[in-house]
Amino acid sequence: MAEELHLPQTEDKAERYAALLPQIVSLMEDEPDQIANLANVVAALKEAFGFFWVGWYLLKEGELVLGPFQGPLACTRIQIGKGVCGASAQQKKTILVPDVEQFPGHIACSSLSKSEIVVPVLAGGKLVGVLDVDSDRLADFDSVDQSGLEQIVAAVAKACWVA
Ligand code: SME
Repeated sequence: MAEELHLPQTEDKAERYAALLPQIVSLMEDEPDQIANLANVVAALKEAFGFFWVGWYLLKEGELVLGPFQGPLACTRIQIGKGVCGASAQQKKTILVPDVEQFPGHIACSSLSKSEIVVPVLAGGKLVGVLDVDSDRLADFDSVDQSGLEQIVAAVAKACWVA
C-alpha cells in the first residue's frame, strides 16, 4: 500500500482506531523486518492521535530496552517490575495511569508526561516487549484507547514475532 494513512474526519477515537487497525495490518503484510514495522506503527499512532510520546520497549536479556519511538528523548533501559512499563511487563497486563504522580515508582522520562498507558506485547503468551504511550494531559486514556491499542499490539505481535 501507499505509505500514507487514511483517517476519518472525526474526533471519535473508536472510529479512528477502527480505521487505523486494517491499515497497520496491511502496512506490515509484506515487510518481514521487525524494526521497520515497529517504527512505522508508532509513526502511524503519532499521526492518528498526536500522542506526546509513543514507543516500544523490547525485552532483551531480561530487561526492557528502548525501541522505535516518536517523541522526546526517553530512558533507554527499564527493569522488569520498575515503573509503569516494568509493572505491565511483569503482570503481562495493560496498565492505565490517569496521573503518573500517583503511580508508585513511575519513571519520569519527561516532566511533561501526566498520564500513561502501557500494553504488553505477548507472542505465544511470552512477553517480548511493551508499547508505552504518554500524554501531557491528565487522564487522557480510557477503555477505548485500551481496546484500540491492545488490538494494534496483537496485530504487531502476530506480524513481527509469531509469523
Ligand atoms: N514512564 C515510563 C517510562 C518510559 S517513558 O515514559 C517513555 C514508566 O514509568 O515505565
